[in-house]
Parts: sequence; structure tokens; C-alpha cells
Amino acid sequence: MEVLIFPDATSLARKSADLVESQIKTFPDSVLGLATGSTPLGLYQELIRRHQQEGLSFAGVKTFNLDEYVGIASNHPQSYRTFMDENLFDRIDIEKSNTQVPDGMAENPLEVGPAYEQSIQEARGIDLQVLGVGTDGHIGFNEPTSSLKSITRVKTLTKQTIEDNSRFFEPGEFQPKLAITMGIQTILDARRILLLAHGENKAEAIRDMVEGPLSAFCPASALQFHQRTTVLIDEAAASKLALGNYYKFVGEMQDELVRTHRPSDWISR
Ligand code: F6R
Repeated sequence: MEVLIFPDATSLARKSADLVESQIKTFPDSVLGLATGSTPLGLYQELIRRHQQEGLSFAGVKTFNLDEYVGIASNHPQSYRTFMDENLFDRIDIEKSNTQVPDGMAENPLEVGPAYEQSIQEARGIDLQVLGVGTDGHIGFNEPTSSLKSITRVKTLTKQTIEDNSRFFEPGEFQPKLAITMGIQTILDARRILLLAHGENKAEAIRDMVEGPLSAFCPASALQFHQRTTVLIDEAAASKLALGNYYKFVGEMQDELVRTHRPSDWISR
């Protein structure tokens, strides 16, 4: 795992946008895996800015979102489809038909997973997956003790996740307790992964993910098995890492390598 530590969320968003931009400029038909939530908002804002001001084009890009609530229609204000439309898709030149979010209102939610997996396969897999992490270490909605081999399916949210997400729902409003989510194996199959996190409330999850034992109890720790994962975090999210200074040193050495050898091999296909 490569760990990059930034002074603030803005520089973190800029660097993650650089990585996404390199991916889609090198392969304009890239397949991106995307996340919702507050974490990737800075990245999405920066991508929108680069589209509007610098002509960065998403015309050939396909996307698959990680997850969607069960029982929430796509046009509901709190659906992940609405979130993606408002915060990214409606503001760039992507073809809407090239964007997929699991259907939370499918007649049989149990059938959504296999079909979603098939669509990902038909798109020849995910080139670059953007992830956030839950305070309990979840990625997508793979809650603690999710199978490390899981694929897209229905999951029950933990009390902690329901509480963390309650800020998006009005008091008394229906708040989903189930979600359809890509599995941990689905995520690990992505060729390249960027996991973003900022804020002190993510510090424990980041520590367990990067330095803890590989365990289904912290689903994000499964990323230790992935060959090309970059973790982009701010100082607050890095504050519980035992080897924080080492990761910074590695970053400096990497910069030095890039300056002298210009490696560009991180782009995935
Ligand atoms: C969202 C998702 C979740 C979030 C995580 C962090 O699509 O898959 O795993 O990334 O819950 O959420 P925020 O970013 O709101 O702290």
C-alpha cells in the first residue's frame, strides 16, 4: 500500500484529481469505480473545475458506483444516483447511459448483484476505483465481518453506519438499513485503487486498514492484498499511524524517483 499524507483536504483532493486525470487522459475509455459520501466531494469538485476550465473530457468514460440504498428510488434526494448526478455527472460531459449505480428499487434486490457483476465484466473490469472508508473500516457497504471474497450483494448496515449517515435524513424520515454494495472481491479486482480519507474520525479506521492485521473485522484491511492501492489522507486521518513518518519519507523518495526517472507506470489497464 502506498500512503500519501497531505497537510489538508484541498491538497489531497488536487492530488487525487491528478491521478484520475492521468488515467482518463491516457485511456479516454477508462472504467471508473466511484464512491459517494462526503469524502470524494473535493475530488469531484476539482474534476468538474478541470472539465469546465481546462477541457478535461469524460465523453468516453464509463462508471460503476459502489453502492445504493435498498428501498430508495433513484430520484429520491438521498439516493446515491441523485448524489452522483448532482455532484458530478450533470456537471461533466459523461454520457448518462455510461454511468451505473445499483438499483435500490429492483423488484428483487437479491438479483441485482449478479447482474451488476456481469455489467462490470462486460465493461472489461474497473480500471480505477475511488474509495472512502467508514469509521468502522467498511469500504463500499462491506461492514465488519464481510467475506473478503464477497461480490456485489445486499448487506445489512451496522448501527454505527446508520448513525453516521443519519445526518443526511430528516428526523422521522425512512432511513434505509440495507444496501446493495460491490463486494470486497469486486473492489480488489479493480486494477488500481485510490482510497481517500480526511478528518480525525477516520484515524482509527486508517490505522487498522494500513497497519492492523488483515481481518474481515476491518474490511478495508483487505486492501493490503491489492497490488496497486494508494491511500491519500490528511494529517488528522494519519494521526494514529505508527509509521506516519516513514510513509512521508517514502513519499519524498518517490518524488525523487519521479524527478529522475519519470515513471508513469501507475496508470492501469
Ligand atoms: C459510499 C461508500 C462508503 C463511504 C464511507 C465514508 O459510496 O461506499 O463506504 O465511502 O461510508 O463515508 P463519508 O465519505 O461520508 O465519510
